[in-house]
Amino acid sequence: MLGMGSSENKSRQSRLAFLGTLASGLAHEIKNPLSAMSVNLQMLREDLEANATSRETRMLKRVGVLEREVVRLEEILDGFLRFARGYKLDPTRQSLNALLREVVEFWAAKAAAAGVDVQLVLEPDLPDVEIDANYVKQALLNLLNNAFDALTQRPAAEKSGREQILVCSRRGKSGVELLVIDNGPGISADARTHIFDPYFSTKAGGSGLGLPTARRIIEELGGTLTFDTELDRGTSFRIELKTAADPQPPSDAPPSPPPAGEPPR
Ligand SMILES: Nc1ncnc2c1ncn2[C@@H]1O[C@H](COP(=O)(O)OP(=O)(O)O)[C@@H](O)[C@H]1O
Ligand SMILES: [Mg+2]
Repeated sequence: MLGMGSSENKSRQSRLAFLGTLASGLAHEIKNPLSAMSVNLQMLREDLEANATSRETRMLKRVGVLEREVVRLEEILDGFLRFARGYKLDPTRQSLNALLREVVEFWAAKAAAAGVDVQLVLEPDLPDVEIDANYVKQALLNLLNNAFDALTQRPAAEKSGREQILVCSRRGKSGVELLVIDNGPGISADARTHIFDPYFSTKAGGSGLGLPTARRIIEELGGTLTFDTELDRGTSFRIELKTAADPQPPSDAPPSPPPAGEPPR
């Protein structure tokens, strides 16, 4: 940051680390009373359900609302703790193309069912990358799910009927690039500066953790995650990964099972 001395920078970093610890501690503390509430709501539900009068039926509705809110709070806390904890990455040499084939083939079925066409265009013979495949899959799924949401959550009148996602790999300036491109609505100028902020979301019920999580994973692997967007044309997210040192012939490693991306909504 311009004009920020390194000691100032350090104190800012340690302040942030302290706040992170404090917030994680708080989140943990909130979990216990929440699970007590959840258990008691369950017991209350069972009591009320036995030969419920009309008054008890009304009370059961309220219990249902409370139960859903408790679940929502638990999800928020879990998302926060996962994000705050950071990741223990275990990078190994991999073929990016093998990973893309595996994730996209399994994911494209869901997209196709919603009328979204998914194309995979891979540059052959790319050098291997040094990545933790499970985490990179999660980052990729977060980008794919966002592209999918952007294409499918538009008002029907704005849809072209040719909703498309293109996933490409190619040689980059200093490594291997992976692009996720959609022909959706694009990102408004206001939103552009916030999309990587934790909890920023323009979706009802959005976690706002998909992009910050993806960026954090890629940056911990020494890569970058950037984007380009144009209103009414679409958006492309670009991951750049360093190639593995000491190049060997590319290994098309056997696939491992796909991980879960963001929690389903
Ligand atoms: N491909 C995309 N097209 C349009 N907007 C996008 C796209 N990807 C992300 N966004 C915007 O970035 C916001 C943050 O994304 P994310 O962190 O994944 O959270 P969430 O998906 O839960 O909203 C989204 O709410 C959306 O406004
Ligand atoms: Mg998302």
